[in-house]
Amino acid sequence: MSDWLVRGGAVLRGTVSVQGSKNAALPILAATLLTEEPVTLLNCPRIRDVENMLRILESLGCTVKREGDALTVDSRTASSFVLPTALSGELRSSIFLLGSVLARFGEADAPYPGGCEIGNRPIDLHLAGLRRLNASIEERDGRIRCRGGNLSGAVVDLDYPSVGATENLMLAACRAAGETTIKNAACEPEIVDLEKFLCACGFRVHGAGTPTIVIESVKRGHGATFRIMPDRIVAGTYLLGAAITGGDVTVTGAQPETVDTLLYRLKECGCIVTQRAESLRVQAGGRLKSVGFTATRPYPGFPTDLQPQLFAALSTADGTSVIAENVFENRFRHAQELKKMGAENRIVDRTAIITGVKRLHGAQVVAHDLRGGAALVLAGLKAEGETRILRAERIERGYERMDSVIAQLGGTVTRKE
Ligand code: EPZ
Repeated sequence: MSDWLVRGGAVLRGTVSVQGSKNAALPILAATLLTEEPVTLLNCPRIRDVENMLRILESLGCTVKREGDALTVDSRTASSFVLPTALSGELRSSIFLLGSVLARFGEADAPYPGGCEIGNRPIDLHLAGLRRLNASIEERDGRIRCRGGNLSGAVVDLDYPSVGATENLMLAACRAAGETTIKNAACEPEIVDLEKFLCACGFRVHGAGTPTIVIESVKRGHGATFRIMPDRIVAGTYLLGAAITGGDVTVTGAQPETVDTLLYRLKECGCIVTQRAESLRVQAGGRLKSVGFTATRPYPGFPTDLQPQLFAALSTADGTSVIAENVFENRFRHAQELKKMGAENRIVDRTAIITGVKRLHGAQVVAHDLRGGAALVLAGLKAEGETRILRAERIERGYERMDSVIAQLGGTVTRKE
């Protein structure tokens, strides 16, 4: 467990390059089991969630090797279809392995996934979809046992455009007999990256980024070298860092089109946003202006993973802002922590009413989840005095060396193990 000390009164200035995407890397790592040949990934972030996924792949018999920016996963030696309880219980994305392990071995045995406690997070859509592909599934003693020696293509119409269910079904369908069509699929950019990876390995997938994805059967994939997309949520976090501290930050290696809903809000707050092909610059002058209403929605709506960081920024804005969290039931736990720092907000069901204050002050707060923790770092940089963030290891699940990146921008975050 680690605590972070954040020194207040910072004004973030400078240029940083964005890390690889956690939410693209995790399903892609699960997909490496489909190829039965070595795969090399470039730009795979060095974060806790990725390390956990690699440990799980090793427990199934894969060989993992990192050399510089290249991460090689060799699944030729994989032999087990039983996912380890402890490691999988730490990681929501372990659920993706259900689809790829089933496709590879015809069987899978997994515990329920863990991860951030930001809502109930059921997996009913995952299981219903796998059953449509002819898998038989038994849930007993806290484990999910799947048999699917004869997975066959089908039309799966998702009740909700779930990111995880879409990705899991793409993996399971790659080697299923016949053709699979996923309707009402999630359209997140990370799903497009997964499709690109699968096609690089010789699988036939198209339509990612639209609500209809089609997967044609391929018996066997092959090895590939693939560069993982930049992390749009991490890029957005540092840009909001510029906004809240009144600074000037450029993020290189970003894909501006994947964060345009955030850029729109930053302009509404009074920031100057400069967009180049692969970089984004945010210059914040005086006090931020409040933003009327923001609702989180599946892509291309405003991402729920940037809601806490925007919440922190709007806590110092001039005026009242309203945020509706439509994706997860319990994703306002940062609100009470920000109140300990002098923020003013009210939560009514899944809506937050944020009354901006001129000053925040340092305090001892808790990172209840990954993005909520990142929001507290931003608030701590803005606040007067020092902020101590408990359970900060939760932030390391998704941010690579956040303390050094903040130092590069002129701020100070110290880790206390
Ligand atoms: C992915 O989670 C991301 N995680 C999340 O990022 C992100 O917040 C979320 O998508 C939405 O964008 C990864 O990609 C590893 P969902 P996932 O299935 O797949 C309900 C972060 O901070 N649902 O789209 O779990 C569910 O309860 C993380 O990086 C069902 O009801 O998201 C939720 O309310 C946090 N039944 C909603 O759908 C199901 O079977 C969205 O979930 C599946 C989901």
